[in-house]
Parts: sequence; structure tokens; C-alpha cells
Amino acid sequence: MMTRYKCVSAIVFMLVAVLMVGTAGCAPSVSDNGCAAVKAELDKANAELKKLRTELDEAKAKLTEAKAELGKIKAEVAAVKTASLEELLRQRRSIRDYTDAPLTKDEVMKLLWAGQGITTAWGFRTAPSAGALYPLELYVVAGNVDNLAPGVYKYEPKENKLTLVKEGDARASLAAASLGQSCVRDGAINIVIAAVYKRTTAKYGSRGERYVHIEVGHAAQNICLQATALDLGLVTIGAFEDTAVAKIIGMSADEVPLYVIPVGRIK
Ligand SMILES: Cc1cc2nc3c(=O)[nH]c(=O)nc-3n(C[C@H](O)[C@H](O)[C@H](O)COP(=O)(O)O)c2cc1C
Repeated sequence: MMTRYKCVSAIVFMLVAVLMVGTAGCAPSVSDNGCAAVKAELDKANAELKKLRTELDEAKAKLTEAKAELGKIKAEVAAVKTASLEELLRQRRSIRDYTDAPLTKDEVMKLLWAGQGITTAWGFRTAPSAGALYPLELYVVAGNVDNLAPGVYKYEPKENKLTLVKEGDARASLAAASLGQSCVRDGAINIVIAAVYKRTTAKYGSRGERYVHIEVGHAAQNICLQATALDLGLVTIGAFEDTAVAKIIGMSADEVPLYVIPVGRIK
């Protein structure tokens, strides 16, 4: 009995000892370690935050610098744009001698677009027009253009495309109708500008004729400047026989030719 009592007491003693060690010895040390770990984590986070703040400040400074640089570049671009128009005006010259090199179709379309291209949804064009009545029609006598068969084409401003009027190279006959001027024969193309007077005179009476003549100058000048920008040579020709030119082109009865403009690569 005594031995059994001693044994139970020993077990109880041992359990109490284990519990005491557990509560009085371990618990505080676990809590200290946790605190230290959290504190270390917090310090790390603070350091990270400080680093990020520095990086943000640096990024903000760079953004300010970039904005200033962008402002400078915008001013330079505006200056170059102005200068380039002035440069084109300075460089434009009547050129009558061309190489045998072909034009590209893209160049031809750019010239036509400059003359009468549509620039707004309503249908306003690159050149001004009295009452926005647009009396001008543009034709191309193509002879030497990549990916465009020789022929006479009409420019359709609405679709910015060409419609074939006549097949075959008409440059020689157009040159003959232009008092034999060789530049008409030698140009890779000739742009022929015609006018339908009644579109304008129906509203403005005989004064409308003056408006039509002013307008052909606007369109031709646009073509001149575009050719200069594309490094192509051209000359605006007024000396030709109207009836012969109209027939060569295949113009309708109400169209009158006003300008023949040979264009080619500068010799
Ligand atoms: C209405 C008009 C008709 C012209 N007709 C011809 C012409 O038939 N043949 C020609 O070689 N040049 C013609 N020209 C081009 C002028 O001869 C040329 O513009 C002028 O000599 C000035 O040279 P620039 O264009 O190089 O400034 C004509 C120019 C205009 C404005």
C-alpha cells in the first residue's frame, strides 16, 4: 500500500514539475521571440517603405524632367513644321527635264490628293472653293508609273481613287496638243485639270468664271508644293489647244481643260 502511494505521489510530483516548467519557463520565452520577430518584420517593412518613397521621389523628379523635355520637343516640331512649309515654298521651281525613272502609284495619288483630296467628313477639300461647289476635275495621263498601266484616269476625290477613262499612253499626243512642248511627252505623268464652269456660275453668274480660275491656281499650287515635298519635278502649262486636249483625255462636253501639268523625276 505504501509503495503504491509513493508511486502515485512520484507521478503527481513529476506532472506538477512539468506543468511548472511549461508555464513559468517556456511561455515568456515564446512571447519574447514572437515580439522580436514582429519587430524585425516591421523594421524591414519600414526600410522597404523608405526605399519605395525614395524611388517615388526620384520617379517624380524624372517625370518633371521628361515633361520639360516633351515641351521642348513639341516646340521644336512646331518650328520644323513651319520651316518645312517655308522651305517648300523656297524650293518650288518649274522643272521641265525629267529622267526615265517611273513614278510610284503612291506618289501619283499624293499629288492628286494635294490638288483636290477630301479632308473632312462633310467633303471639304485641300483647296478652297467658292461656295464649296468644287468645279474642278483632275485627270492623269499616265505613261511611266509602277503598277499603273499607261492610260488616262480620272481622280475620284470621294474614294481617293483612279477610274480608267482610256487605255494607252497619250503623252505624245498630249504634247502635240500642247504646242509640241517636250516636257509633256517626257513627264512620267501629266495631271490635267479641267473645270465644269456651270457648277459655280449657276450660283455666282459670270463672276463665277473668275472664281473657277482662282480655284485652279489653288489646286495647282498644292500639287506644286506636294511635288516639291516628294522631290519630283513639274511645270504648270497653260499653252495648249483646248479642244484637242479635251478630246485626248475623253472629257465630257461640260468640262474645259485649264492646266496640263507634266511631272517626273528631276534630271
Ligand atoms: C498660268 C501659267 C501658265 C504657264 N504656262 C506655261 C507653259 O505653257 N509652258 C511652260 O513651260 N511654262 C509655263 N508656265 C510656267 C512659267 O513659265 C513659270 O512659272 C515661270 O517661268 C516662273 O518660274 P517658276 O515657276 O520656276 O517660279 C506657266 C505658268 C503659269 C502660272
